[in-house]
Order: sequence, then C-alpha cells, then structure tokens
Amino acid sequence: MTDLVLTEKNNHILTVRINRLDRKNALTHDMYTALGDALEQARDDDDIRCVLYTGSEDCFTAGNDLGDFAAGLPGEFQDTPVGRFLLLLATTTKPIVAAVNGPAVGIGTTMLLHCDMVFAGDNTRFQMPFATLGLCPEGGSSLLLPSWLGRVRAAELLMLGDAFTADDALRLGLINSVCEPARTEAAALEACARLAAQPPAAIRATRELLNRASGEQLTTTMLAEGKLFAERLKSPENAEAIKAFTEKRKPDFSNFN
Ligand code: COA
Repeated sequence: MTDLVLTEKNNHILTVRINRLDRKNALTHDMYTALGDALEQARDDDDIRCVLYTGSEDCFTAGNDLGDFAAGLPGEFQDTPVGRFLLLLATTTKPIVAAVNGPAVGIGTTMLLHCDMVFAGDNTRFQMPFATLGLCPEGGSSLLLPSWLGRVRAAELLMLGDAFTADDALRLGLINSVCEPARTEAAALEACARLAAQPPAAIRATRELLNRASGEQLTTTMLAEGKLFAERLKSPENAEAIKAFTEKRKPDFSNFN
C-alpha cells in the first residue's frame, strides 16, 4: 500500500491520482504496483466503467524514479511492478482516459499511448528521453510511434528525446485536446462520464478491437523492450546519465563507443 497513488471511485469512474509532488510524481516500484492494482480493481468491479489517470495541475509525472533506475529492475520485466502495469494497461478492456499537466516524462508519455482519450494542459511538456539516459524505448513506443507518426518523427522523439508541447502532441495526434491546466481534469472527467454512459459491453468490445490492432506484436515488443531496457540499466552510459542528473550537470558521452 502507498499513499503516493490515490484512488477514488465515483459515478462509475475510478480516478487514479499520482501524488508524489515533492519528487515531481516520479514513479517508484510501489507506485507501479498501485497503478497496476487499480487496473485490476477496475477489471474486477462491474460498477467501474472507466479509469482516469491524472496527477495535479502542475505535474503528471517525471517518469520512473531515477534512484530506482540505479538499482536496476527487480526480476524479469513481466514480473516487475512496471512490467505488470504496462502489460495490464495495454490489454485491459475498460476504457482509460488521462488528464495530464506539466511534466509527462518517459513512461509519463508512453503510458498515454495506451489510453483511449488524453486531455493535456497547455503547460504540459511531453518527453521520452530514454536514449539520452543511455536507455531504450519502453511501453510499446518503439512499435506504436513509428506506425502512428511515421518512422522519422518517431526516431526524432525517441533518439533526440526533446520535450514537446501539448500543441505539438495535438498536431501529432497523440492527444485529443489542449486545455487550461485548471480545466484539464474537468474536461477529462466529462469524457469519462460520457464513456460511462455508453453501453459498457460495446465500449469494452471496441477497446478490445483497438488493442487487437497491435495485439500480440505489441506484447512481444514490450517484452523485447523490457529485456533490452534491463540490460541498458546496467550500462556505463546510463550510470553517467544518472550521475549527471544527481550532480545537476549535462551528461558527457564523449568517451563511450
Ligand atoms: N526521479 C527521482 N527524482 C526526481 C525525478 C525522477 N525522475 N524527477 C525529478 N526528481 C526530483 C529532483 O531530483 C528534485 O529533487 P531535489 O528537490 O531534491 O533536488 C525534485 O524532484 C524536483 O525536481 P526539479 O528537477 O527541481 O524540477 P523542475 O521543475 O526543475 O524539472 C523535470 C522537472 C521533470 C523536467 C526534471 O525534474 C527532470 O528532468 N526529471 C527527470 C526526468 C527523467 O529523466 N525521468 C526518467 C524518464 S525515463
């Protein structure tokens, strides 16, 4: 149990709030466990018709806790809290909505690829700095992004790892709407309410079919990404990137081959 992820059920909507603001909502193993538990709760509770992921008006999540990265992955990817969460997210059939503001870094962007509707504040900064951290793509992003955006745009986002705005994300087709940060959650809740009022089995069938479009290949890709990611976490490149972050300086990769 952790109070760093809060869940609340209201009007058939399960709201899952990331709540670790002093660390920019960086996600620890326990928090991934809670995020995965929420999806199982939604799956098993007939009264829940929609899941909403959110953070605060200023911050969705700065991604994986960089301290946890330094400790490596505890076990095979699919058995780790992050692996279980991502695999559940990609396969669950209840509709998922996200309301994001501020930083949406790393998994804070890739988890959105598995949501059905995404609302972003105009203060949102999306970023997938995996390569810059000496790591590799995760969350199925190496499969989904090239197929949705085209190879060159996907490579730019995944290789250069620059942050991009909510307007950019809207243009790329990664989100539904840009909101005033104070309105993001309300806009997402309105969408949740509309989804919850739809025929639930038809909505589940629709999401199942949308999931199936990338289906088995998505799971295979996520497992391959997870394996390589675990290896990269042990690399000297990642060690230098994490050291540089804690020392508040730019990483220096000039000596690596
Ligand atoms: N893991 C652990 N701690 C983190 C963190 C993370 N992913 N992201 C931020 N924090 C901590 C910072 O170390 C800082 O702690 P301190 O107050 O003890 O110095 C605190 O949260 C506030 O972060 P700060 O960097 O001061 O906030 P900011 O508003 O200037 O910048 C970010 C916000 C998200 C741009 C910046 O924190 C960042 O780049 N974080 C790392 C993101 C990342 O690389 N995630 C992994 C993706 S794979």
